Amino acid sequence: MIAIYPGSFDPVTLGHIDIVERGAKLFDKVIVAVLSNPSKKPLFSVDKRIEQITQCTKHIANVEVDSFIGLTVDYAKLHHAGVLLRGLRVLSDFEKELQMAHTNKTLNNEIETVFLATTKEYSFLSSSIVKEIAQFGGVIDHLVSDNVAQDMYQKYHNK
Ligand SMILES: Nc1ncnc2c1ncn2[C@@H]1O[C@H](COP(=O)(O)OP(=O)(O)OP(=O)(O)O)[C@@H](O)[C@H]1O
Ligand SMILES: [Mg+2]
Repeated sequence: MIAIYPGSFDPVTLGHIDIVERGAKLFDKVIVAVLSNPSKKPLFSVDKRIEQITQCTKHIANVEVDSFIGLTVDYAKLHHAGVLLRGLRVLSDFEKELQMAHTNKTLNNEIETVFLATTKEYSFLSSSIVKEIAQFGGVIDHLVSDNVAQDMYQKYHNK
């Protein structure tokens, strides 16, 4: 079974990588799919995000990294994936994730959404929080991989 793990990953965090590592044990292949959303202004380009994720997942054999535009279920069908992998952190994730899962099920009944509960040390970790900390010069080394931390420092402080 192939699983798609869709998201913005702007940037990818250790919380995301944890979900990929655990997903890769459950499924034959996990495709991490960066959503290219033209209406959002991301910190990193899609190509940069793909490079960052590729670097962080190179130790996992059955992972691919890609990007897509449009409906996740259409992308999943194109790649013969039967599962959308998502992570659940706090209660506030639940409502929008459930809504998204129902919507995707309505769009394509063949594709199931599977949720993995966050590992507890990452339960308050998000890309937004990493950006907030980094822009004010805080330490993010325990929240993202070395290559991403480097990219963040460069982006905000030109180091
Ligand atoms: N720390 C984490 N633990 C488990 N799942 C996570 C974690 N961070 C994100 N996820 C999950 O990864 C998927 C992709 O999330 P997304 O790209 O929105 O990242 P995010 O960290 O929530 O970023 P943003 O702050 O921009 O919303 C979602 O299912 C999200 O719930
Ligand atoms: Mg989010």
